[in-house]
Amino acid sequence: MNLKGKKVVVGVTGGIAAYKAAELVRVLVREEAEVKVAMTRNATEFVTPLTFQALSGNPVIWEMFGRESGDMEHIAWGQQSDIIVIAPATANFIGKVASGIADDFLSTMLLAATAPVLLCPAMNVKMYENQVVQENMARLRKRGIEIMEPSEGQLACRAEGRGRLPDPGAILEHIKSMLAPKDLVGCKFLVTAGPTIEPIDPVRFITNHSSGKMGFALARAARQRGAEVILVSGPTGLVPPEGTRFFEVRTALEMKDLVLQKAPQCDAVIKAAAVSDYRPKSQAQQKLKKGKQKLTLDLVRNPDILAELGKMKQGPRPVLVGFAAETQDLLANAKKKLKAKNLDMVVANDVSRPDAGFQVDTNAVKLIFKDGRIEELPLMSKEEVANQILDQVKALMEAV
Ligand code: CTP
Repeated sequence: MNLKGKKVVVGVTGGIAAYKAAELVRVLVREEAEVKVAMTRNATEFVTPLTFQALSGNPVIWEMFGRESGDMEHIAWGQQSDIIVIAPATANFIGKVASGIADDFLSTMLLAATAPVLLCPAMNVKMYENQVVQENMARLRKRGIEIMEPSEGQLACRAEGRGRLPDPGAILEHIKSMLAPKDLVGCKFLVTAGPTIEPIDPVRFITNHSSGKMGFALARAARQRGAEVILVSGPTGLVPPEGTRFFEVRTALEMKDLVLQKAPQCDAVIKAAAVSDYRPKSQAQQKLKKGKQKLTLDLVRNPDILAELGKMKQGPRPVLVGFAAETQDLLANAKKKLKAKNLDMVVANDVSRPDAGFQVDTNAVKLIFKDGRIEELPLMSKEEVANQILDQVKALMEAV
C-alpha cells in the first residue's frame, strides 16, 4: 500500500506520548503522504506546534478561533482527507468523542468528519482498564471508529501494563491496512520467508544471507489487502506483520513439515524463503572442539519443499510461486526452476546486484509465467514488489 499523495490528518492530544506523534508524522511524510496536524491545547504543553509544522511542512491548528484563514477548516479537514489518526488519544479525548462533545478544533473536526478515523489510545494502565474508558471505546467502535490496542510495557508513569502508544511503524502499518484496497478478502495465503539454519553442533550452524524482508513484505501486503495469511519464517528478528498467523522455524525439515501441512488449505503459496539445500549429516551433541587436523563436514541434501508442493499439486490450487535467487544466467535458471517445480510463476532475483536481493529494502525482479510471459519490474521498494507480485497472483487465481 502506497501512501503517496494520501491526505492524512494527525490529531495529537495531551498525553506524554505526544512526543511519539512527531516520529509518526516523520514516517508518514517519508511515505510521501500529505500530512496536516491538529492539536488540542493540552498537547501543546508537551510538544510545540512548531515541531509538527516543521515535520509536516504545513501549518498546525490548535485553536478554534483567532486564525486569519477564511476557510472552514474544522469542516474541510475531516471531509477532504483520506484518514484521520488520533495519536495519542487520551482518556479525556476518547470520552469527549464518545459523547459528541465538540469544544475545540480537533473534537469539532472529528464530529464533522467523513473520513475513516483511527484512534490510538495511550494512557496509564488503570485509566485504560477503567470501565468508563472501555465503554467509551466500545461505543466508538460501534460507530465505525477503528481503535488500535495500546502496547504493553513500562509506561511513562513507571507503571507496567497496557497503555503505551504503539511504535510509529505499527501505526503506519495499521493506517495502510485501513486504506488498502480489500481485493484479497476470502483468499488464504501461505508465505515463507527468511533463511533456514542447519545446526552443526549446539552453538554453530549453516545459514545464508536472507533477511526475510521480501517474505515479510509479501505477508504484510497480502494481509493489508484483506487476505488470511500464514507466515512461516526462519529466524530473522523481524516483527511479524499485524494480523498474520506467524510460525517461526529453524531448519528446512521443520519448514517442510509446516508448509506441507498448511499448503493444501491455501489458495496461493509464495515461497520467498531461502531454504538451505544441504544440512550436516549429523548434529554433534556437544560443542565441537578444535583439533590439529582439518575438519570436513559431511552434508546431506534437504528436501526441496517447493518441488514437493509442485508434485502434490493436481488442480489449479494452490497457485504456486517460487523465487529464484541467482548470481548468473538469471532468466535461464529461473525458467528451469519454474518447469522443474511445476510453478505458476517464478520471481527471478539477481542477488549479485547491491540494490536488490538480500538485506536491502529494494528489489528489482523479473516475473516469469508458465505461458512464457515475462514481466520486468524496475527497481522499487520490497513493499511495492510485494504488491506487484500479489496483483499477478490475484490474476492467476481469477484465471482459473
Ligand atoms: N526451495 C525450497 N526448498 C529447498 C530449496 C528451495 O522450497 N530445499 C524454494 C525456495 O523457497 C525458492 C525456490 O525453491 O522459492 C528456489 O530456490 P533457490 O535457492 O533459488 O533454488 P534451488 O531450487 O535451491 O536451486 P539452486 O540452489 O541450485 O539454485
